[in-house]
Amino acid sequence: MNIRQRTMTTVKLTYPSTILVVAAIATSLCLLRAQAPAADSRSVWDGVYTEEQAKRGESVYHKECAACHGDMLIGGESAPPLTGGAFLANWNGLSVGDLFDRIRKTMPQSAPGRLTRQQDADILAFMLSVNKFPAGKTELYRQSEMLKEIRFEAAKPAPKK
Ligand code: HEC
Repeated sequence: MNIRQRTMTTVKLTYPSTILVVAAIATSLCLLRAQAPAADSRSVWDGVYTEEQAKRGESVYHKECAACHGDMLIGGESAPPLTGGAFLANWNGLSVGDLFDRIRKTMPQSAPGRLTRQQDADILAFMLSVNKFPAGKTELYRQSEMLKEIRFEAAKPAPKK
C-alpha cells in the first residue's frame, strides 16, 4: 500500500463516523431543548391577581368601561364583550401583557391612555375574575414586559403531576 492509498482508506473510514458523531450531537442537543423545564412559565390559571385587586378593578371598570362594554362585560351595541367564548378565543395563545397593552393604548375608547397603569392592571384583574380565572396571592404586575410572561390560555390545562 502506498501512502496515497493509505490516506484514502483513512478518509473512507473516518468520513461516516464523523457524520455519526455530528448526528449524535445534534440529536442530543434537540433532546436537551425538548426537555428544557417550563417551570417559570405561568398562565392565567396560576393565580396571577388577588381578589382585592379585582374588587378595586371592578369599581374602575364600572366608571370607565361599563357604559360601552356593559355591566356584565357582555358587550353593548357597538362594543365587543370582554368575557365569553369569542373574547377568550380572541386572546387565547397571546399574553396578559398583550391584553394590557391593548387596553392601555386604545381604551377607554374616548380617551385612551387616560387611566394609570395601576388602574389598568386592576381592571384587568377584574376581567380575569369575571372570566373565571382563579385569584392568587400576588397582584397583577403593572409592567407589560412582565405581564407578557403570563400566557393567556382559554382552556384550563390538565393538572400538573
Ligand atoms: C366609548 C365606548 C368604550 C369605552 C368607554 C371602552 N371601550 Fe373598549 N372597546 C370599545 C369598542 C368600540 C371596541 C372595539 C373596537 C376597537 O377595538 O376599538 C373596544 C374594544 C375593547 C377591547 C378588545 C376586545 C377584543 O376582544 O378584542 C378591550 C380589551 C377593551 N375594549 C377594553 C376596555 C376597557 C378595559 C375599558 C375601560 C377602561 C374600555 N374598553 C372602555 C368601546 C369602548
